[in-house]
Amino acid sequence: MKKILVTGGLGYIGSHTVVALQQKGYEVYILDDLSNAQYFILENIQKITGILPYFTKLDLCNMPELQYFFSQNNDFEAVIHFAAKKSVGESVQKPILYYQNNLNSLCNILLCLEQFKIKNFIFSSSCTVYGQPDELPVTENTPLKPAFSPYGNTKQIGEEIIFDFQKNYADFNAVILRYFNPVGAHDSALIGELPNGVPNNLMPFITQTAIGKREKLCVFGDNYPTADGTCIRDYIHVVDLADAHLLSTERLFEGKNNEKIEIFNLGTGKGSSVWEVIKSFEKVNNIKVNVEIAPRRDGDVTAVFADCTKANEILGWKAKKTLDDMTQSAWKWEKKLRIRN
Ligand code: WQD
Repeated sequence: MKKILVTGGLGYIGSHTVVALQQKGYEVYILDDLSNAQYFILENIQKITGILPYFTKLDLCNMPELQYFFSQNNDFEAVIHFAAKKSVGESVQKPILYYQNNLNSLCNILLCLEQFKIKNFIFSSSCTVYGQPDELPVTENTPLKPAFSPYGNTKQIGEEIIFDFQKNYADFNAVILRYFNPVGAHDSALIGELPNGVPNNLMPFITQTAIGKREKLCVFGDNYPTADGTCIRDYIHVVDLADAHLLSTERLFEGKNNEKIEIFNLGTGKGSSVWEVIKSFEKVNNIKVNVEIAPRRDGDVTAVFADCTKANEILGWKAKKTLDDMTQSAWKWEKKLRIRN
């Protein structure tokens, strides 16, 4: 049975990917420092799949500890690297935290891949690498513009690091996945988005407002040059995203990659405004969200959504779930979380 290491595997996208990998028969190891994840997710993964993943609590920025882990466990067929800080808003407030954490951890994991001769790597990148594109939708060939946030910049630099690293590690193959806006939760409502403290992202703020944990949802600006004045994003269900990681990993296993490093946009190809997300949530869950218009947030681009033709044609992947599926599953998860807490 092929063994796969998932860094950040107790996190939001990581945990959903672990479920997909286990359900396909892979043996999954998780590294996570629990800075943005909780241990109970490990037990809930087991409740979904019947298999408890191997787990080691570890900070990837601690190179001696990371090398020791690999010295004891190094027969991985692939490493899927999620572990990173990922809030656009927070990165504007704490840029050095983001550069230090996201780039040191990436460099450390790559050095270990070379040292322990692990050759397949999946990198969690982001649509924020496009900055504010001149044309929409964006394809993988859309020129990258200066990122609008330190978070987006860590992903731009991360991609460059991977390309430079590959030049000196001939056996190395990588897939870079540029996520758009991951939202929603697993149908079981046993795993989902678990923001630390006050959520930075829209969907958890909506669900926490709806359940009464937050007094109101602030919409950061309704005077953007869009149809309803609010920003547009390409929201994608986290389960669809997990499936793309499975397909990408198997693509590398089968040696089907056309290039040593391949890049794919992962979105639905459809842009939705903040108001459209709110209206979908209220409609499918029959609940009203208390909303207040607030000033624009630093780091926000007006609109970005994906052209996913490449992932459709090459990976054989296409997002299946709708915005209503996303808002319905997010609410189901929030309600189950409140019962738990
Ligand atoms: C979406 C829209 C906000 C909160 C995310 C991830 C990032 C990356 C890209 C993967 C914006 C508005 C938000 C709120 C609001 N994904 N908003 N009130 O900034 O697009 O980035 O997707 O790498 O990791 O963070 O997502 O959900 O923060 O914001 O009005 O309380 O919702 O202004 O227009 P963002 P977001």
